[in-house]
Amino acid sequence: GERNDKETNKKLDDLEKEKKDGTGEFLTTSTGVKVNDTQNQLTAGDRGPTLMEDFIFREKMQHFDHERIPERVVHPRGSGAHGYFQVYESMKEYTKAGFLQDPSKKTPVFVRFSTVVGFRGSTDLARDVRGFATKFYTEEGNYDLVGNNMPVFFIQDAMKFPDLVHAIKPEPDSQTPQASAAHDTFWDFASLMPESMHMLMWVTSDRAIPRSLRMMEGFGVHTFRFINEEGKATFVKFHWKPLLGAHGVLWDEAQKIGGKNPDFHRMDLWNAIEDGNYPEWELGVQLVPEEDEHKFDFDLLDPTKIIPEELVPVKRIGKMTLNRNPDNFFAETEQVAFHPGHVVPGIDFTNDPLLQGRLFSYLDTQLIRLGGPNFNEIPINRPIAPMHNNQRDGFMRQQINKGTHYHPNSIGGGCPFQAKMSEGGFVHHAEKVEGNKIRTRSKSFLDFFSQATLFYNSQTDVEKKHIIDAFGFELGKVKRIEIRERMVGLLTQVDQGLARGVAKKLGMDPVPQPEKPMNKGVPADAGPEEFEPIHV
Ligand code: HEM
Repeated sequence: GERNDKETNKKLDDLEKEKKDGTGEFLTTSTGVKVNDTQNQLTAGDRGPTLMEDFIFREKMQHFDHERIPERVVHPRGSGAHGYFQVYESMKEYTKAGFLQDPSKKTPVFVRFSTVVGFRGSTDLARDVRGFATKFYTEEGNYDLVGNNMPVFFIQDAMKFPDLVHAIKPEPDSQTPQASAAHDTFWDFASLMPESMHMLMWVTSDRAIPRSLRMMEGFGVHTFRFINEEGKATFVKFHWKPLLGAHGVLWDEAQKIGGKNPDFHRMDLWNAIEDGNYPEWELGVQLVPEEDEHKFDFDLLDPTKIIPEELVPVKRIGKMTLNRNPDNFFAETEQVAFHPGHVVPGIDFTNDPLLQGRLFSYLDTQLIRLGGPNFNEIPINRPIAPMHNNQRDGFMRQQINKGTHYHPNSIGGGCPFQAKMSEGGFVHHAEKVEGNKIRTRSKSFLDFFSQATLFYNSQTDVEKKHIIDAFGFELGKVKRIEIRERMVGLLTQVDQGLARGVAKKLGMDPVPQPEKPMNKGVPADAGPEEFEPIHV
């Protein structure tokens, strides 16, 4: 069946040659010398000290001493699985991406789900965003869709990301709480950052405590571009729709499950795949012609906004099936390196300032996390597409490159040549850009509340109550009263009932008001300074 399919298994076969199994073999040192005793050090006499010459002991201990690598600076806790993706019908009209052309073609994938805040060993049941990162091993190179289970983000500009993460991670002195944002530093930041309001609605909703990783939606968040053979671009938002539907647990359930079995989601995914209940997602796209870029009352480049499905329906274009657990957590799930900048011809970026900053961050962090510039040679990361370049040397280089390594080059002998666009060479979409060098965000980014309200109003009464309860619980852990008040003041701009409900839970009467007047829409004469984070 599927698991023996040649195309589906292209990446698995590639990994196969790296696998080691010592069954029936002699134990050896890492240089291949057979080991005679792996339980006793070499000592001077049977009660004496260890001898320096005990290379067998030193090697064993030394390797053990170096087993840990840094955990990811965000999304450290994750669970991974292999599978494949298949498109339903050719997307040729919109994109030339090879893996989106032929419905009979199966593209191998590796997916890593994660929580964002908690450390590598933290509970799966935290109220948090979930990462949903997919690596497509396409024949034109690796394409990574590095998404989350929520369609928007806390901030509009990557410049703010280190601040967001410093605020959301445990408090710097007590290093608590370990895996949640229920503390002063996060809510201080959030209450001073009105652009995070839409995301906060998702984070306090049932979406933030999924029932299962198999029952989560996924989103590319940013607007990307599809590019077709003629070079025509179409804006695209990516969605993953779980065939099991999207489900959450109650906060009370989350706390109980998390306390009894912090690995609940990880085990659920593992067991489902072992049992042959392969989880499936449909890939959805919202497509917007370039001509329509300015037809919305929000900016397509603003990652705190969705495109409501009523305005642009989600077209389901293919299906992903996860059908194989990793053989080794560290080698695969821990060492995999996703990057929004891993694109293939037919997929391109937009000027979303959050995306633009991410394009720097992932490669940069992986240089330290995975120990230098050769991490794309790690088996889980290397493409199944042919790979030849003039990159050389560096720590842990695996390839033995022959010949000369520069371009242009008349000597040849080892030096690869450039690919024309007609030969599959990646050519960036020639978007026209002009403007002054400034650090001011466009006014079209300044409506921080309308979509928060839209989201709140989309919820049922029970779901609204969960949001009120979540704000009540989280803000109830915040020690500084002025932070609670500032946050409730912002909630009045989303929905009065929401603000009243939360204020009641926090024992506040009357309901605190915002520190300065706010507008849901953008007044014609609004200058960005009026909407800047509140300075206190
Ligand atoms: C992981 C940076 C926003 C999804 C990471 C990592 C960094 C990072 C440094 C660790 C990568 C590694 O060690 O391999 C940033 C920055 C952001 C940002 C600077 C904003 C400016 C986002 C957004 C999304 C997202 C908006 C979702 C669309 C993920 C996921 C992972 C991740 C899923 C985990 C990947 C894995 O499983 O290995 N991010 N991130 N990030 N990020 Fe972001």
